[in-house]
Amino acid sequence: MKLDNSLAAVVTGGGSGLGEATARALAAAGVKVGIFDLNEEAGNRVAGEIGGTFAKVDVSDSASVTAGFEVIRAANGQESICVNCAGVGFAAKTIDREGKAHDPALFGKIVGINLIGTFNVASQSAAGMVTQDPKNDDGERGVIINTASVAAFDGQVGQIGYGASKAAVAGMTLPMARDLSRDGVRVMTIAPGLFGTPMLKGMPEEVQTALAAMVPFPSRLGEPDEYARLAVHICENSMLNGETIRLDGAIRMAPR
Ligand SMILES: NC(=O)c1ccc[n+]([C@@H]2O[C@H](COP(=O)([O-])OP(=O)(O)OC[C@H]3O[C@@H](n4cnc5c(N)ncnc54)[C@H](O)[C@@H]3O)[C@@H](O)[C@H]2O)c1
Repeated sequence: MKLDNSLAAVVTGGGSGLGEATARALAAAGVKVGIFDLNEEAGNRVAGEIGGTFAKVDVSDSASVTAGFEVIRAANGQESICVNCAGVGFAAKTIDREGKAHDPALFGKIVGINLIGTFNVASQSAAGMVTQDPKNDDGERGVIINTASVAAFDGQVGQIGYGASKAAVAGMTLPMARDLSRDGVRVMTIAPGLFGTPMLKGMPEEVQTALAAMVPFPSRLGEPDEYARLAVHICENSMLNGETIRLDGAIRMAPR
């Protein structure tokens, strides 16, 4: 899909980190960008800076997602690009130090945002995409990009909820791509390794240095712009479909 100002996009989690970088990259390519984020101040700031539109949305709540699409589509028209970056990374072990089992409410919260949230936004976006005319000779109507994590494959100690939610996002990719293939909507997932976003930058400096040293090459945290550049490439390259791409400098996470 050729990126220009005839296209609209919705980016969730666009107020920070990987979503913010992607919103900026799409806007720089001329695309009309709508941002969904729970953080009103951050989402409004980014939308204001890129000439985009913001809607306060909790992706885990399907009615909130529906209301958000109404706001953004009224401003920008039907989106052809949907990038799911909203996510949370709460850590907890299966059994804690006191022998207590993992809080099921916390497990549900992580899955509710990372998995159900991605499903809510992707499915509602797809329902809109399939109603529009094809955008190119391939008959392409849209592209959905989800965000998993290397924790989908090598989850660490304390990542039972996070790893499960991200493995499910990776697992949704092929069946969703197959479901939507008849209508020319592609579905891809990016599984980032360690990226220098507020999610990681909040950690102590020595922890960040230790994490960066674990990356075989290049031995540093990924830049949000490197995620955004892959997202832009996925939009532009119509043969990419139904696959999860690790973007991780060859890291394979150790148990802890
Ligand atoms: N940073 C990394 O190293 C890394 C690695 C692997 C995967 N990821 C994944 O990439 C995605 C983006 O992470 P990031 O590092 O940019 O994090 P971030 O914390 O910088 O940004 C996440 C954004 O999502 C928003 N958000 C959280 N819950 C929401 C909800 N219920 N509804 C709407 N918005 C919500 C937050 O307000 C925030 O603006 C996440 O899914 C994360 O799991 C990040």
